[in-house]
Amino acid sequence: MRGRKVGIIGAGAVGATAAYTLSMMGTCHEIVLFDIADGVAKGKAIDISQASYYAPQGTIVNAAESASDIKDCDVVVITAGVPRKGDMTRADLLMINAKIMKEVVTNIKENSPEAIIICVSNPLDVMTYVCHQITGWSRNRIVGMAGALDGSRMAYQIQQLTGYNAGQIGSLVIGDHGENMIPLPHKISVGDIPLSELVSKEQMEQIINRTKNGGAEIVKHLGTSGYYGPGRAIAFMVEAILNDTKTIVSSSVLLDGEYGHKDVTVGVPVVLGANGVEKIIELELDADTKEKFDISLRSIENGINVLKDNNFFT
Ligand code: APR
Repeated sequence: MRGRKVGIIGAGAVGATAAYTLSMMGTCHEIVLFDIADGVAKGKAIDISQASYYAPQGTIVNAAESASDIKDCDVVVITAGVPRKGDMTRADLLMINAKIMKEVVTNIKENSPEAIIICVSNPLDVMTYVCHQITGWSRNRIVGMAGALDGSRMAYQIQQLTGYNAGQIGSLVIGDHGENMIPLPHKISVGDIPLSELVSKEQMEQIINRTKNGGAEIVKHLGTSGYYGPGRAIAFMVEAILNDTKTIVSSSVLLDGEYGHKDVTVGVPVVLGANGVEKIIELELDADTKEKFDISLRSIENGINVLKDNNFFT
C-alpha cells in the first residue's frame, strides 16, 4: 500500500476539479497544488479546503509556493499546459507544452522521486512520451489519462441511446486521445449482456462517432473544454493506485513490443494498482481495428517526431 500524498501541477479547470473530487471522495490524506499563475493554486487550495469541511473524510489541501515544494508525493498529476490560440499550429503547441512538461517533470524527478505520474496535458500521448524520456523511470510509473475519460464519454452515449443505468455500462476506448481514438462498444457489455445484442449496427456506429466527438460537443456548448469528466477520471485513476485496486482501465502507456510496437505511448487497457501500470492487457484486434490502431499510432509518432526533429530530447 502506498502513502496518500498527491501533487497536482496545474491548478486550472481540470487540475482543480481533480483536487476537489479527490477531497470529496476522501481518497488521499494530503493534496498539494501548484500553478505557475500567481495566486491560482493558493486561492483554489483554500476554497477546496473549506469545501472539504463537509466531506466524509478530511483532506489537507495546500498550495506549493514553488514547483520544488511538490515534495515526496506518492502520485503526481500533471495538467499544466497552455491551450491552442489563434495563429498557433499544432506543432507550435506541441513544442510549447513539451517545454512546460520538461520543466515540470524535471522538478518531479528531483522532489518526488518515488512518485507515480499521471499525465493529463495535451496532446496527451505525446506528453506522456515526454514524461518517460525526461524521467527515464521504469515504464510502469508513468501513465496518461485518456481512456478513463473517453470511456466515460462512450458509456454516456450508450446510456443516452438505451436509457439503461449508466453504472452497469462497460467502457473501452483505445488508441490516441484525439481524432483517431478507437471506441470499441462491440467489446463491452451492459448488465452482463453484450451491447451488440441490445443495439443495431447503425446505433453502434452512432455510439462510436458521438464518442469521438464527445470533447468537441462540450466545447460547442460551453465555449471551453470539459473539466468535471476529466477531473473525475483522474480521481478514478488516483484511487486505483493509492488503494491498489487492480482496476482495468485504458490508459496511455509506453509499449515495448505489446501490440507489435515499441517506443511509442498509446491508449490500451492496463491494470492499475500500487505499482502504477501493473500489466498491459493485449487484446486480440480484428483486421479493421488493427488498421485503425496503426493509423492512431502513426498520428502519435508524427507528434513525437516533431519533437525529435526539433532536437527536443538531445
Ligand atoms: N507549471 C505549473 N502550471 C502551469 C505551467 C507550469 N510550467 N504552465 C501552465 N500552467 C498552468 C496554467 O497557469 C493553468 O492554470 O496550467 C493550468 C492549465 O489549466 P487550464 O488552462 O484551465 O486548462 P485545463 O482545462 O485545466 O486543461 C489542462 O489538461 O485536458 C488537458 O488539454 C488540456 O492540456 C490541457 C490540460
